[in-house]
Parts: sequence; C-alpha cells; structure tokens
Amino acid sequence: MVPLDRQDATHAQLVLEMLLESGPDFASGEALSGKLGLSRTAVWKVVNALRDRGYSIEAVPSRGYRLVRVPDRLSGLEILPLLETHDLGRTVHAFDSLPSTSELAFRLATEGADHGELVVAETQTAGRGRRGRSWASPAGKSLYASLVLRPEFPPQRAPELTLLAAVAVAETLRGDGVEASIKWPNDLQIAGKKIAGILTELSAEADRVHFVVLGIGVNLNASPSDFPPDVAAVATSVMRVLGRKVNRAAFLARLMKVLEHWLDVHEEQGFGPVRARWRALSSTLGLEVLVKTERRELRGMAEDIALDGALLLRTEDGLERVLAGDVEQIRPRVRP
Ligand code: BTN
Repeated sequence: MVPLDRQDATHAQLVLEMLLESGPDFASGEALSGKLGLSRTAVWKVVNALRDRGYSIEAVPSRGYRLVRVPDRLSGLEILPLLETHDLGRTVHAFDSLPSTSELAFRLATEGADHGELVVAETQTAGRGRRGRSWASPAGKSLYASLVLRPEFPPQRAPELTLLAAVAVAETLRGDGVEASIKWPNDLQIAGKKIAGILTELSAEADRVHFVVLGIGVNLNASPSDFPPDVAAVATSVMRVLGRKVNRAAFLARLMKVLEHWLDVHEEQGFGPVRARWRALSSTLGLEVLVKTERRELRGMAEDIALDGALLLRTEDGLERVLAGDVEQIRPRVRP
C-alpha cells in the first residue's frame, strides 16, 4: 500500500466525510470535485487510493459514489471523518504495533505534544495495566488508546480525571447497549468480568500538572481464545456481550466525544457532577469489600467516594480513606 502524502490524505478524508454524510445515497462526482476543488479524474484517483486501503466504494455513472464498507482498522483515515470533538483525537498517531500506546504518548507529551493528541495501536507488545500488571492486547480486536491531556489544575486533583475517564468509558459502552458499571477506581465490568481498564499516568511538579496520559483499553471484538487463559477467565468483550462485532473507529470516535463532554463539564463545574455520575454508575458502593493497597489490606463497607476521588471505607476501626488499591467483593450489596 503506497503511503498517502499529506495532501492526498486530506483529500481522502474529505471524500470519506462526504461519502459518510451521504449514507446509503450516492454522492455525485460533481459534488465531490466541487468540494475538493479537484477535477473528476483526481477524485477518481482518491477513490481508488481508498479502495487500495480496503474501502469498498461503489461507482455508478451519472449517480456518483457510494460507500459500501469501511475496513476494520484504526488509523487517522478511519477515525478523523467520524470525530465530533474540538480537541480530542484531532491529531492521531496510529501504529500497527507498539510496546505501549501510553509509553509513546508519554514520550510525545514530554516532547511537547498538545492537549488531545491521541496514540492508537492495533496491538501492544508490552501493554501496561494498573499496579505494574500487563494488559493483554490481541491484534486488531480491541481498542488501545492513549490521550495526552494538559489540565489546568494541581496534581492532587489528577485522580478526578481517572474517575472521569471511567464515567466516559461506561457511558460509551452503555450507548452501545453494554450495561457496564465501574468497580472502584476505574475498572469497567459487566457481570463481574472486566471489559475495559484505564491507566492514568502523570507528569507534574508540586503545584502544576505538566500533562496526564490517559491510557484506555476496551475489549471490543476479542474472543476468549484471543486472551491468555488467566485473562480469559476474568475478561469479557463487547462482542461477547452483544453477540456482534463493533466498529472500532466508530466506538473510539464516540468515546472521544463523551470524554470531551465530561472534560468540559469538569472544567466548568468542577468534580461534583463527575462524582455524582460516577456514583450512579458504580458497582462498588454499598458492598462489603476487601481493599488491597501497596501496604495493607482493609475490610469494610464501601461507603462513598470522597471529594478527591478517594474510596471511603467503613471499617471496624472507623472511616478509612483509600487513594489507590484493588477492590474485591466479599459480601453481597447491603444498600442500593
Ligand atoms: C488496568 O489495569 O485496568 C488498566 C489497563 C489500561 C490499558 C490501556 S491499553 C492502552 C494504554 N496503553 C497501555 O499500555 N495501557 C493502556
């Protein structure tokens, strides 16, 4: 496949946008060449470049072009025409394989990447999970995405973004009919199985955040056989839940929109609305749980989320605040 130069890529994107807008109807060659300011022959070349990239485009003389099928791939060409955001994902760094999208996003951010720059990969060879764990990343099946964010608040407030991201992923999944809930702090689960995870990494000094890298992994079209056995036992995917594949680029575009909405709410109104939504989507509150932190294990009732995102745990010794850890349910829910 010959790589597209910048101008050809822009033309290809514009043609795709018009074809997507036309939906099941034809977009006339005249309208396309008018919009692009290109000759009909040049439009034909763009259409063929798209076909080379796996797009199925029907061409009928005197009617024009119609998009029949888009390839299941995550690159700027698939993502950008679907994006409805101001900042998030407007610059996409897309790769077939990376050690970790978060590792690259962190490096790009250190070198000055802007707020909203997005790194995606078809697979990761060293995908990172929370607390030093790895993240299974079967090729071409799921979403592995990391965003550079440059929030204007002190580092102590960074955990708010983690909870905010969990809200956005849960809402995006629910928009597709997957009734996921959030296990504190930011595991997305359905029927006790993990469907998505979020890893927030921070570069900051005492009173200023340089940047946050928000790493999001969503099991979209993965089957149990795509995972190592230990992961398969505790994971599920959107395809498993819905019984059909989802378009990964469309899912990512929706996620960017929902995430941007919550980032705007957070900037304008603070953490309150995010916290309220997190509580409504949580499967942890009201449960008897065991919380494992780096240094200790605590048992108690998950009572609430504090104003800074900490888990408030009612233990035999009183109310404990837990900032980071893993939660295990030990008894059924005691209140809704
Ligand atoms: C968790 O442990 O639940 C967090 C998993 C986060 C995985 C995502 S996949 C995209 C990004 N790149 C990584 O290496 N990790 C995150």
